[in-house]
Amino acid sequence: MCGIVGYIGEKNATPLILNGLKRLEYRGYDSAGIAVIENGSIVVRRNVGKLGNLVTLVNDQPISGKIGIGHTRWATHGEPCERNAHPHLGSTKEVVVVHNGIVENFIELREELSAEGVDFNSDTDSEIIVHLIERYMGSGKDMVGAVRKALKHLKGAHGIVVMSSREPDKIVAARIGNAGGVVVGLGDNEMFVASDIPAILEHTRKMAFLESCQMAIVSKNSFSVTTLDGEPIEPQIHTIGWDAVSAEKGEYRHFMQKEIHEQVRSLTDTLAGRVDFEEGKIRLPQLNLTEDNARLIRKIFITACGTASHAGMVGKHYLEKLARIPVEVEIASEFRYRDPIIEPGTVVIAISQSGETADTLAAMEEARKKGAIVWSIVNAIGSQAMRVADGYISMQTGPEIGVASTKAFTAPLVDLYMLAVLLGDLRGVLSREERYQCVQDLRLIPHLVGRCLEREEDILVHAQQLKDSSNALYLGRGINMPIAYEGALKLKEISYIHAEAYPAGEMKHGPIALVDKEMPVIAIAPQDPWREKMISQVEQAKARGGKVAIVATDGDTRSAELADIVFWVPETPWLLSPVITVIPLQLLAYHIASLRGLDVDQPRNLAKSVTVE
Ligand code: AGP
Repeated sequence: MCGIVGYIGEKNATPLILNGLKRLEYRGYDSAGIAVIENGSIVVRRNVGKLGNLVTLVNDQPISGKIGIGHTRWATHGEPCERNAHPHLGSTKEVVVVHNGIVENFIELREELSAEGVDFNSDTDSEIIVHLIERYMGSGKDMVGAVRKALKHLKGAHGIVVMSSREPDKIVAARIGNAGGVVVGLGDNEMFVASDIPAILEHTRKMAFLESCQMAIVSKNSFSVTTLDGEPIEPQIHTIGWDAVSAEKGEYRHFMQKEIHEQVRSLTDTLAGRVDFEEGKIRLPQLNLTEDNARLIRKIFITACGTASHAGMVGKHYLEKLARIPVEVEIASEFRYRDPIIEPGTVVIAISQSGETADTLAAMEEARKKGAIVWSIVNAIGSQAMRVADGYISMQTGPEIGVASTKAFTAPLVDLYMLAVLLGDLRGVLSREERYQCVQDLRLIPHLVGRCLEREEDILVHAQQLKDSSNALYLGRGINMPIAYEGALKLKEISYIHAEAYPAGEMKHGPIALVDKEMPVIAIAPQDPWREKMISQVEQAKARGGKVAIVATDGDTRSAELADIVFWVPETPWLLSPVITVIPLQLLAYHIASLRGLDVDQPRNLAKSVTVE
């Protein structure tokens, strides 16, 4: 999704904004631009394609000024090209806007403005906004008042940043609905505005996050927040614990590889402060759980998108097994429009790395409207999904930059496991001994993940064998069935190989017709209650000439005999095996995509945070 960076202070805004946009590249985009106020006039530079093209243009035609805004665009209305790139300058050349989101009523507004004599310079919906602001500034309103009036016309979700050469002492930012975040960064005699933390983290850790229907008026040494109608709001200033370095690649070729290897640390961090290994107890204070309210829970929905939904599929096993609570897992884009039946005692858990996924946020709103208790498991600090929930669990993995989610998949698995143990304990379902053992099993996980990562060289060999496949079939059962779905998603989204996942028991109901020597079958068959069934599935695939790779527990001689390829994993308590079995599949997808020379961190057509429908 699009990225926004703004600056007002005493330094030259141009390099600060361009560098901030670079830190947002992972969000996915197809054009970029910057505007600064130079010698009293707004100057704009825009280019299509990667940010480097804009940097080259700015180097050729330098611009500088102490206030500016920049944008990376992920095209929704109007093809990716220079004229459709942001920032958009109005007819007077005195107002300029960058915009995340979709103006859902842009056709009628465009017609209305055209009838007023406005000439449009782009095919975008976003350009509407600057002309609306100019309409009101032309009738005597100041920039803030004009932005307030203009925003009232817009339907849809928006993140907007505006500046004007008439009022070069301020930047105005606004957020409506869920089109990605709007963050104000507090510096020393300088201020920043951005759509996400990494863009400005190297300059400041003090940040305020706009909620929906809020505006920020930002000058170089102060800022204020109001509702869209102008009611003042006391902003909460967060101090971000992440360090700027953790948002860098370090010695890894790609963020994705770094983040796969960070999972020893990130899993340790997601456990930190929540597990008392001596007592064998779990603490999740942000959920305000007590025995009484835990016992009132009758049903749990888990809702999310993509990888996060696969984590929810594993979480179902944990919550049903350890807390004996019925769980339904549903894709957020389905949940939000299905008119779900929410009865008293229902908890809806939303899982989201970015905390800004439009479908997931909409599902949360739907759940709340129907009276559910809404919790979230979120990574991005200060994100909407963290703020609007009744309670939340922070993944605590640090920034995840690679579009393909890895550490923000394994962390919620452990978070859901901890939640299940806590609920099982509070509801009297788990005995003290059972609870204690569950907690001790958690202690093993970071080390076991580390042992999987030590086998990366073996995975690279297997990636060489599989990299030219056109298709792949991932099979799993029981608690590892979701890992088949996650492994297939990882492969398809970064290597562009068609990969699909199936519950292994379904093979004989059709998919086995796909199996031949051209169709690699990847079976997740660790030491868990479903292993025997998986082995027979593998035998059926082998009998039809299929090439089979198995994720198997160290020492499993049967798997070694059967499979063409074995991804060995260390022995693991079976409930936690998904945290381990996914690691070789993450590495496999990463290395296949790398061997295919693809843009691993920013795969085509994808964005890190899908803030549009
Ligand atoms: C996963 O690798 C993908 N990038 C995508 O499926 C992602 O998990 C999904 O868009 C949900 O994102 P979220 O966790 O930020 O809500």
